[in-house]
Amino acid sequence: MTADIIADLVIHGGTIVSPDAEYKASIAIKDGSILAIGEQGAMPQAKETLDATGLHILPGAIDVHVHFRDPGYAQKEDFASGTAAAAFGGVTTVFDMPNTLPAISDAKSLAEKHAIARAKAHIDYGLYAVLGEDSLPNIHALIEGGVIGFKCYMGNTFGRIPSPTTGAMLELFEIVAPTGKRISLHAETNSIMERREARLRQMGRTDPLAHLAARPAVVATEAVARAAILAEWTGARIHILHISSAAELRPLAEAKARGVDITGETCPQYLVLSADDYEERRGVIRVNPPVREAENQNPIWQALVDGTIDMIATDHAPHSIEEKTREDIWTVDCGFPGVETQMPLMLTEVARRKASISDYVRWSAENPAKCWGLFPKKGALMVGSDADIAIVDTNRTWTVDDNLTQSTAKISPWHGMEATALPIHTIVRGRFAMKDRQLQENARGWGRSVHAIQAMPTPDVRHVDQTMAAVTSQTATNKGSVAA
Ligand code: DOR
Ligand code: ZN
Repeated sequence: MTADIIADLVIHGGTIVSPDAEYKASIAIKDGSILAIGEQGAMPQAKETLDATGLHILPGAIDVHVHFRDPGYAQKEDFASGTAAAAFGGVTTVFDMPNTLPAISDAKSLAEKHAIARAKAHIDYGLYAVLGEDSLPNIHALIEGGVIGFKCYMGNTFGRIPSPTTGAMLELFEIVAPTGKRISLHAETNSIMERREARLRQMGRTDPLAHLAARPAVVATEAVARAAILAEWTGARIHILHISSAAELRPLAEAKARGVDITGETCPQYLVLSADDYEERRGVIRVNPPVREAENQNPIWQALVDGTIDMIATDHAPHSIEEKTREDIWTVDCGFPGVETQMPLMLTEVARRKASISDYVRWSAENPAKCWGLFPKKGALMVGSDADIAIVDTNRTWTVDDNLTQSTAKISPWHGMEATALPIHTIVRGRFAMKDRQLQENARGWGRSVHAIQAMPTPDVRHVDQTMAAVTSQTATNKGSVAA
């Protein structure tokens, strides 16, 4: 190391975790990037040093599925509280969902959300836009406005964004495929669950388990299989959000085997909670898709281990205590916070199930970065990568307390759960967002959109001669020649 380079920060004494190894090393940071990794003696001089003895140093988690509610529902969460919660959870980048008010389906609403996020975010972020019948004419304008990807609601959930017909979905996939942008799917088939819910309500069911009865695993499985067929036909890249059942794994694995560019996430709630928890937690665990029978947990875990499921996200979906504790299950808002507790709970699960912290780093950072073309700038601790770092005590037993979280939502099914790991410091592009479990006030407004990092391979577009655009322009030409 040349003597005249002065790093901004050097972290000594910690154990660095990569997707393949854990090793003791120091890490030097300058101008927001990782400058050097190596022995303490080989590090340059630094303006600041941090002693991480006894702690693990992980690439900050990338949570590709959060709902920060801003604009429109700031009483539930806003970009400041949501990104503070993320920082406390060791998360350095989030992808925010478009079911805000207004929904993000045109260039104007997108620009407004960019302004909000830029002013308030403590960590980096990507913004999703809606892929639906209304946003079809706006797809290119949305990409120009800066989106990380599109979200397609195959089923209704909070915000009631209408789900496109299969016909519209095909056309939407045809348009997005050549852009290379990934389409994330809320893969629950609306017509199945609406029909069942209507019948259950007619019968007078209002108990928590009626929610699960309305949405059995086939609701998700049929949607995954159908979306995979459309992705295979068009060459669109897709991502299956919140995999909740063992049954979805087969269409996912089969699509991967056929060469479809399909990725998948699961969330802590599908690994840690089960149908047995409805009685005690009632509406608090109401979420779409629902927490299911316990026998789904091991197959989902196994799918993470073998790579069928690529990553862990949270579906962080904050609501108020009143909205989560209504008696009639159909009136309870769906979802709960998770961005702040994902890393502690999953590292606890990793220890319990005897996976490695390296596996966790693959699921929480490396794979999300790779699937959205952010790697190795994001999701890696390598020289030249952004200095997005979670410094974690993996030997700390503590109990989740909803009243002590950063999220505005003070109710979750995690309340009272024991975890054996806790992020102590979180660094975003070289700056502390959280230090010694304290939010760093100068981090507010430091977060930036990651959409401009473009390392996606060229898309493999298929059946371009048969798209809606191709056949309608052909029809126009044919008509023209008949008339001539
Ligand atoms: O339970 C859910 N809540 N599932 C979703 O997909 C959306 C989320 C929300 O925005 O509240
Ligand atoms: Zn969601």
